[in-house]
Amino acid sequence: MENYQADEHRYEQMHYERCGRSGILLPQVSLGMWHNFGAVDDYDRSRQIVRYAFDHGITHLDLTNNYGPPYGSAEQTLGRLVDDDLRPYRDELFIATKAGYDMWPGPYGNWGSRKYLMASLDQSLRRMHLQYVDLFYSHRYDPATPLEETLQTLVDIVRSGKALYVGISRWPLEATRFAFRYLRERDVPCLIYQGRINLLDRAPIQEGILDLCREEGVGFISFSPLAQGLLTDRYLNGIPEGSRMSRGKFLRPEMLTDEVLQSIRQYKAEAEAEGLALSEYALSWILRQPGVTSVLVGASSTEQLQKNLRCIGH
Ligand SMILES: NC(=O)c1ccc[n+]([C@@H]2O[C@H](COP(=O)([O-])OP(=O)(O)OC[C@H]3O[C@@H](n4cnc5c(N)ncnc54)[C@H](OP(=O)(O)O)[C@@H]3O)[C@@H](O)[C@H]2O)c1
Repeated sequence: MENYQADEHRYEQMHYERCGRSGILLPQVSLGMWHNFGAVDDYDRSRQIVRYAFDHGITHLDLTNNYGPPYGSAEQTLGRLVDDDLRPYRDELFIATKAGYDMWPGPYGNWGSRKYLMASLDQSLRRMHLQYVDLFYSHRYDPATPLEETLQTLVDIVRSGKALYVGISRWPLEATRFAFRYLRERDVPCLIYQGRINLLDRAPIQEGILDLCREEGVGFISFSPLAQGLLTDRYLNGIPEGSRMSRGKFLRPEMLTDEVLQSIRQYKAEAEAEGLALSEYALSWILRQPGVTSVLVGASSTEQLQKNLRCIGH
């Protein structure tokens, strides 16, 4: 591929939202690297997607230690992209990673211990060829580890300079409340909560997490905003070959029930009544929820990303 020179117009279309009460602005659309960036994927295609994203103002990339497959390889892809294309733009990028799920064998490669989080972040930085990440998350609530241990580790990670900000993902309401207070009292306020809100799953709204984020001045970023592709035209006429559902691991065919299909068709009709594509309608709906900072989309092609970017500024 030819040498990369970022598009000089890259900041002209994107809208940026303030992330809670912080100095950080995040693009309304961010890019997640859960699928399509592993060692099993074509590097040139992954590279095109990230180039397209940055050329259109997507400054925020979201990773996790075990994205791939195999585990760690999405971070390695990012490291290669940093070397090939992104190093000159490091200060224009806001790069996140996480630890909390299964990563390496034995008792120290999972959950929320200090031992796991510290070692995991060191590994992530090596894979990504970075000296620091902009954002490090506890990826899930660990009912067995004292919350203070996990949270103090986040504080110490920021103090060490290996992450500039911290966040939490998928923590339940009361533990989230505790986390926000604990971190604020140590002058390392939680920047952002990562949870799933989309037209088919509104749990963080119903459980009061989005309200809590708003009250506490913490940003909110929604993962799987298209329900892994269900909230697009992808599955309206069966299961296309090569789609996430055809691979069947994270989005299984049994999730496409008659009831879900009926909801998707209804949302599509509502979208069309407003002259919008279903994906655009679905993403705009999330961005309109008070307290939501950004939607964290996935994409297996630049064409998908192009469509998804149409939600900006609605
Ligand atoms: N915190 C957590 O626990 C957690 C959990 C899950 C995800 N995440 C984060 O959230 C990010 C996004 O999650 P996600 O990938 O599930 O998001 P998503 O945007 O709901 O789904 C993305 C997938 O939908 C399909 N798609 C996207 N746009 C499309 C379009 N315009 N038309 C047709 N199909 C389209 C593609 O799948 P095909 O392969 O079928 O093309 C794409 O890979 C992840 O990368 C990760 O960073 C975090």
